[in-house]
Amino acid sequence: MTNNQIGILGLSTMGKSLALNLADHHFKVAGFNRTYHVTQEIIEEGHENFEGFEELGDFVASLEKPRKILLMIKAGDAIDQTCIQLMEYLEEGDIIMDGGNSYFKDTIRRHGYLKDKKINYLGIGISGGEKGARNGPSIMPGGDQEVVEVVLPFLNAIAAKKDGDPCCTYIGPDGAGHYVKMVHNGIEYADMQLLVECYLLLKHIGHFTNAEMALVFESWNQTALKSYLVDITAKILREKDEVTGSELVDLIIDKASQKGTGKWTSIETLEQDQNTSLINAAVVARVTSNFDDLRFAYQQLLDDPMTKEVNPYVFQEEVRKAYYLGKIVAYAQGFGLMKDASKRYHWNLDLGKIASIFRAGCIIQADLLNVIMRSYAENKDLENLLLDEEIIRIVKRNIQSLRVVTSLSIRGGVPSPVLTSAMTYLDQLRSKQVGANLIQAQRDFFGAHTFERIDQEGINHHEWEK
Ligand code: 6PG
Repeated sequence: MTNNQIGILGLSTMGKSLALNLADHHFKVAGFNRTYHVTQEIIEEGHENFEGFEELGDFVASLEKPRKILLMIKAGDAIDQTCIQLMEYLEEGDIIMDGGNSYFKDTIRRHGYLKDKKINYLGIGISGGEKGARNGPSIMPGGDQEVVEVVLPFLNAIAAKKDGDPCCTYIGPDGAGHYVKMVHNGIEYADMQLLVECYLLLKHIGHFTNAEMALVFESWNQTALKSYLVDITAKILREKDEVTGSELVDLIIDKASQKGTGKWTSIETLEQDQNTSLINAAVVARVTSNFDDLRFAYQQLLDDPMTKEVNPYVFQEEVRKAYYLGKIVAYAQGFGLMKDASKRYHWNLDLGKIASIFRAGCIIQADLLNVIMRSYAENKDLENLLLDEEIIRIVKRNIQSLRVVTSLSIRGGVPSPVLTSAMTYLDQLRSKQVGANLIQAQRDFFGAHTFERIDQEGINHHEWEK
């Protein structure tokens, strides 16, 4: 029988959740997993629209043509291997979709390779974790537009909805979908670390308890700062360990992991000569948290600096405003990176539309995205979000708090790499002088690299040591 409308290859957490989400939306779904017992467990749960297969050939043969197969497997070599295996069974016009966090340059390569073999390939960014996948993720499909159109009815049906509209839109050619997902994750890293820094400041300078901080974050969630990450942070701070009764967050080892998407964002930023200093700082903060020996040594070597008492009510409001501005800078840098990529790769990204599909389903969903969406809708060619009038007003209203909070963090010895990066970035943009004149002089001194003058046209070299 060839009556399954879509196949999911890879049925662990995300694959299973997407398969069941599709099945709930009345699509006939075929499922295949490398180890059959995973498939069997889903079969046993018994969804009328889900059919599981033990053999890859049978799975493929059960699909309507053109066959649509969504890969939900680990990014990297496994994708290449699976594409090669699938080639044995696929025919011209069939569609392979990669729904994982693949590196966008791999997606560009795979798209080109499979195009030569007349197989369509889409790189699809999917955000929202397990719950999002099950109940409605944000979906970023990239590839040939006419091929994306074929699968959009499936993706739109299962995507999160915001004001009735699906959080899914055609992003752009070849690797554009995975690129945008990569930047989404970079912003995710920065926003998570910003919240970490608020937590550290409130705890070590404001002397708030976890329960008091939960209240603070809950109150922020009633303001323009409303977001998924603020919400879960409040919930995390309230959670108790079932066994010990202690607050769970205090029992978790102070070392962070990562799977790579944040790091890729930073690498791409450097390749593109752009600035995502907040994302870079967040990536490096995770890395530094794992410097066990060095951290231990310096914990013994250097004492905490003395801190002055702060008024907790005033301080929490200052931290809220600092976070607000930090978050705006993080998003502005991320969207600036996408704007540059759009030109560089000829993707014609619609940044307003991208902001709109980030508003529900995904990890970085936040009310702030309404402002970003409106901003790009009014001015498609906006060079940078920091030039939008509403955002300029927010910057002006909050910059003093960012300055106060970052000063207090440095004086109090509370590591705040992302908040201080936001402050530094704004100061770099604001300052009449950033010192590049001296850099140019140094370059010319040792390497005759030349410089330009403020009072004359043309290129100059000076004999610095006569
Ligand atoms: C999402 C998340 C998801 C995943 C990250 C975590 O949008 O649903 O970004 O893709 O949670 O890959 O990344 P790290 O393991 O690097 O923190």
